[in-house]
Amino acid sequence: MPTHSDSLFNLKVFDHPLIRHKLAIARDQGTHSADFRRLLNEIAGLMTYEVSRRFDTRTITVQTPLEETIGHQLSRPVTLVPILRAGLSMTDGVMQLFPEARVGHIGIRRDETTHRPVTYYAKLPHDVGDGYAIVIDPMLATGGSACAAIRYLKEAGCRDIQMVCLVVAPEGVRRVHNEHPDVMVHAAALDRELDSNAYIRPGLGDAGDRVFGTIEV
Ligand code: PRP
Ligand code: URA
Repeated sequence: MPTHSDSLFNLKVFDHPLIRHKLAIARDQGTHSADFRRLLNEIAGLMTYEVSRRFDTRTITVQTPLEETIGHQLSRPVTLVPILRAGLSMTDGVMQLFPEARVGHIGIRRDETTHRPVTYYAKLPHDVGDGYAIVIDPMLATGGSACAAIRYLKEAGCRDIQMVCLVVAPEGVRRVHNEHPDVMVHAAALDRELDSNAYIRPGLGDAGDRVFGTIEV
């Protein structure tokens, strides 16, 4: 079960031993892209079970080989919304549990001088507001990118939005709470702080570069 942080009421941190184990390997600078991607997807899959706990279901009739019985079916569509690029690294893991989910994409890059988000792409299902939206991004640092993505989804009609992250900084969680108090953030770890470059410490470096092998040498 994820636990609420004492002062960050919109944050649930997963203290599961498997998630901690995998996160430690992902943080290691010696972990290569292929393993990094696999681990992020595995962690995302483990988190999805809890993230979806309060999704509505409707009762349906099911014919077993022996008799008719009552079953349950998710009653509203689920849309996964990875923030490009790094959000793609956790999307397959969530999708394993929601094979019928739709995937909307929001492309946001953080300007590394101002640390402000720059939105460069967006494509959502036309009826995204009818169901649940799960915003996916491994890193929540200043919270600028997350808030921009959530704002975009709300403008598209979404009323039920959650975030799935890997590592979050207190500053970013607070910002999401201030701007979008209705949005719960789920994370594998709450890290200590942001540094002067707005990188999460101890963090894991630049997630997008580690996922896609674009680290400059
Ligand atoms: C990273 C990360 C988040 C954002 C977090 O993306 O994946 O989207 O930074 O920072 P913030 O909370 O301060 O906005 P980046 O801009 O590096 O783009 P990328 O995924 O394409 O590498
Ligand atoms: N983006 C990342 O990929 N890592 C950080 O620590 C902060 C922003």
